[in-house]
Amino acid sequence: MSNQKAVIGNMPELPYSVEEAINGLRINVGFLGNDIKKIMIISTMPDEGKSFVAIQLWRQMAESGTPSILVDADLRKSVTTEKYGIKVEKGKIIGTSYYLSSEYPLEKAILHTDLEFGDIMPNTKNVVNPSRLIEGKRFDDMLDELAAKYRYVFIDTPPLNLVSDGERIGNRCDGAILVVRGGTTSKTMVRNSIQQLKRADCPLLGIVLNRVEGARSGYYYKKYGGKYYGRYGGKYGKYYSDRYYFKK
Ligand SMILES: Nc1ncnc2c1ncn2[C@@H]1O[C@H](COP(=O)(O)OP(=O)(O)OP(=O)(O)O)[C@@H](O)[C@H]1O
Ligand SMILES: [Mg+2]
Repeated sequence: MSNQKAVIGNMPELPYSVEEAINGLRINVGFLGNDIKKIMIISTMPDEGKSFVAIQLWRQMAESGTPSILVDADLRKSVTTEKYGIKVEKGKIIGTSYYLSSEYPLEKAILHTDLEFGDIMPNTKNVVNPSRLIEGKRFDDMLDELAAKYRYVFIDTPPLNLVSDGERIGNRCDGAILVVRGGTTSKTMVRNSIQQLKRADCPLLGIVLNRVEGARSGYYYKKYGGKYYGRYGGKYGKYYSDRYYFKK
């Protein structure tokens, strides 16, 4: 069964500082150990930057020569395919939700990209209630098969505060990276998310402080604590920076 070839038409070029921040994140993920393969990218609220962090981390990991797949498990309102201009040369994209409700072999749903070590499984058909798909054995089997095939399986998800998909997916992953949008998500909300991950038995691998505008004060550093590895962001529309606090 040959994999389809996809083109990502719209991958934005990032300012040097953001590229560097993601690079730092990639390196820290590499230090997490060999057992950490299935990594969920999650946040508390919508719009904090999960999909952004997921696709950029996946891209850099693949560019560094590490076989990685990005799985879109936001089965409710994913916009990644349109936003990043993901297209296949021939035929149609099967997509995560359709794959899960079908009997297609996994190979058919995996797309190769221009990146030699980067494959993707986008989601094309959004569904209203995907719980059944996420809870099913086919979802577990899919993650296991992917983890056997790739060094990293990055899983993009819906936010924790709206639906329980994230908890369910987290329960089947080796850990989660929590994306926190600077200045909008309160400490209490972040704490709740950490509790939710604990309840789901999903180790918190690290926190990415994302979309920080003019964050040179170090305020967020104090607020959330933890170890600081990131760098200041450059100009990307508004001022964004990505910093992260990683365990280990
Ligand atoms: N560090 C960043 N630098 C520049 N743009 C960013 C950054 N993080 C996020 N964005 C932009 O902010 C918007 C929201 O990000 P994204 O779609 O990744 O959020 P999300 O958490 O996946 O949202 P949803 O919950 O709706 O899935 C997007 O337009 C994205 O390109
Ligand atoms: Mg998203």
